Amino acid sequence: MDNELSSIFVIFGGTGDLTKRKLIPAIFSLMYEEKLPENFTIVSIGRREKTSEEYREELYDSVDKFSRFSLNAESWEKFSKRIFYKNFDFTSDNEGYKDLDSFLVTMENKYLTGGKRLYYLAVAPDFFEGIIRNLKNNAMIEKAVGWQRIMIEKPFGSSLETARILNKNISKLVSEEDIFRIDHYLGKEMIQNILAIRFGNSLFEPLWNANYIDNIQITSNELLGVENRGAYYEKSGILKDMLQNHLLQMLTMIAMEPPVDFEPESIRDEKVKVLRSLRPFTAESAKEDIVRGQYGAGEVNDKKLLGYRDEDRVSKTSNTDTFIALKTYIDNFRWGGVPIYIRAGKRMDNKSTEIVIQFKKLPGINYYKDFSEVVHNLLVLKIQPQEGFFFQINAKKPGSEFKMEKVQLDYCQSCKYLNDSPEAYEKLLLEAIRNNSSLFTRWDELEHSWKFIESIEKQFKASTPKFPNYAAGTPGPKGAIDLIEKDGRQWWNTESD
Ligand code: BG6
Repeated sequence: MDNELSSIFVIFGGTGDLTKRKLIPAIFSLMYEEKLPENFTIVSIGRREKTSEEYREELYDSVDKFSRFSLNAESWEKFSKRIFYKNFDFTSDNEGYKDLDSFLVTMENKYLTGGKRLYYLAVAPDFFEGIIRNLKNNAMIEKAVGWQRIMIEKPFGSSLETARILNKNISKLVSEEDIFRIDHYLGKEMIQNILAIRFGNSLFEPLWNANYIDNIQITSNELLGVENRGAYYEKSGILKDMLQNHLLQMLTMIAMEPPVDFEPESIRDEKVKVLRSLRPFTAESAKEDIVRGQYGAGEVNDKKLLGYRDEDRVSKTSNTDTFIALKTYIDNFRWGGVPIYIRAGKRMDNKSTEIVIQFKKLPGINYYKDFSEVVHNLLVLKIQPQEGFFFQINAKKPGSEFKMEKVQLDYCQSCKYLNDSPEAYEKLLLEAIRNNSSLFTRWDELEHSWKFIESIEKQFKASTPKFPNYAAGTPGPKGAIDLIEKDGRQWWNTESD
């Protein structure tokens, strides 16, 4: 096992949902698959008082429920003895940091992790800067031995301005190469597969441009509502919760130029160019090309679902968007004029994330008269819940007549690997300790995605939507269908086809 990977995971926000549902189960899976060396250690920090023993007991159920592997006495024993809990008020208590540092040094001496620390900030964004400042003031980063990296959860800022300020302040404390800004979609298996499909096949890349592609569609439907995150969601809405990060990141992977190599900076250089080329919205284009939505009460399988305005810690008159559909363009040589349709929503009628590349049809004159039934070629990348992709082509229908039918060349990755893909967080944690930053967002990517979001937010502020405008458990507002149909196109709903 690579000794460089022996490290301590130091998790701020140890009692939070993210730590319990994602981080700890992910570290367990990494241990289970022997991707971590024997001497990894987890030190969780929270404000609630409890012993390490109590903390471990709390984690048992989470690991059992959320990890990919079933727990047994032996694996739990091996895992749990690596977990420690420290409680102090990490938002202000400077003494607490001193204590934490000496505890970490003791751990380092015991488990020989050589000063390698991954600080994970699984806390509200308001605390990011304060924690990093405290780490800096207590000489807990940029030490003479090992490495100290900082993983920051989204959202990074709440607007272009706040993100810039946060970045400016943080970059005075720690160097960019030690900051790992999370977008967990970059850890998803099929998002990484985009690079393989695009650049590993002679079939696609020559056609991957405005000459052959009619439009691109990115859909992210969720069944869930805002759950218990009403207070956070009121401030972010779908715009900042999904579009600013996950959806734009998917778009960059689809639209970027081939990087000179697969080094993190080369990939990120290309992604930034896509974001810089995104056409910002104006009052006019926003009116034509954006559809906003918020779910009202609904019913699914005889179960009544609350409307957004009735969710916990949500204003009864809230105008926060829980759905968005839009059409945009990437104004560069490759994509000039190709519409990009993006839609995302909470409390939809299905859970699916997919990207559809719709190729142009041949000019009508080139088809034989019997070919009237031909359909568009589609490349559909299924990100989740099923992983895989298919390519839709035209072929002859068997029989005595010459009729065409659509055929889907389907690769079901989930069937082949029996849903055994590592969870996004497993990959991200592993890549951070391996120092591979290509799965993390660089500051300039964020800056340009915030600029694009601002152009939308500005238009949103200028109008009052009529909310709610779709019932929970349905395909979203009708306007989203009109948005694409008025261009003579349609959304491809392949998950539910
Ligand atoms: C998170 C958002 O970043 O992504 C959530 O804050 C959303 O609101 C989630 O539900 C979706 O992630 P996934 O992996 O379930 O598609």
